[in-house]
Amino acid sequence: MLIAIPGLLDAQCVASIRGLIDDAQWIDGNATSGPQSALAKNNLQLPETAPQAREAGQLILDALGRSPLFIAAALPLKIFPPLFNSYSGGQAFGTHVDNAVRIQAGSGFRVRSDLSITVFLEDCDAYEGGELVVETQFGVQQVKLPAGDAVLYPSSSLHRVEPITAGRRVASFFWIQSMVRDDQARQTLFDLDSSIQVLAAERSHGDAQVIRLTGIYHNLLRRWADA
Ligand code: NI
Repeated sequence: MLIAIPGLLDAQCVASIRGLIDDAQWIDGNATSGPQSALAKNNLQLPETAPQAREAGQLILDALGRSPLFIAAALPLKIFPPLFNSYSGGQAFGTHVDNAVRIQAGSGFRVRSDLSITVFLEDCDAYEGGELVVETQFGVQQVKLPAGDAVLYPSSSLHRVEPITAGRRVASFFWIQSMVRDDQARQTLFDLDSSIQVLAAERSHGDAQVIRLTGIYHNLLRRWADA
């Protein structure tokens, strides 16, 4: 399932990130591709080791850490340092699946890609085309969100970025290893947590049934999580 995270970054944070990355040295996006996705990929990317990518990436990681929606939806164990890409002038990324394991250049830090995330860093009306298209079990979904919004989707899904026909699309993308590997189990926990939050707001966090359901949530998490 796709989960949007509206307003992950505020306008000031987006501007700070763009200020860091816009004048950096962009390279051919195939630097990080596996051999299959290299065939499909046509974009620009900041090198993983670029200091601007590290600094801008930290702003995104900080925002994720402050987002209850991200934490509830992803149940993150490890997060790959954010990468940045740019599409313009007809560039696109054809249908592909993300590599199962990502290894950070230099450090050897490894992340199993359970979830992929795109953080949009350009206003929708500043470019044409460039939709993220994800093939899910419920059909094909197209995503194009305002600057500062993010979308989470299963890394196992086939997905693509449609050609840019005008303007420039700048985004951050990376992968999350979840404490809960199984998509269905993670979704069940997210649904349960969402209902508990609604119920707790209606009754109170001290309500007996809210406490019981919270216990069930944690007992399921204990069963399913690797920490
Ligand atoms: Ni991808």
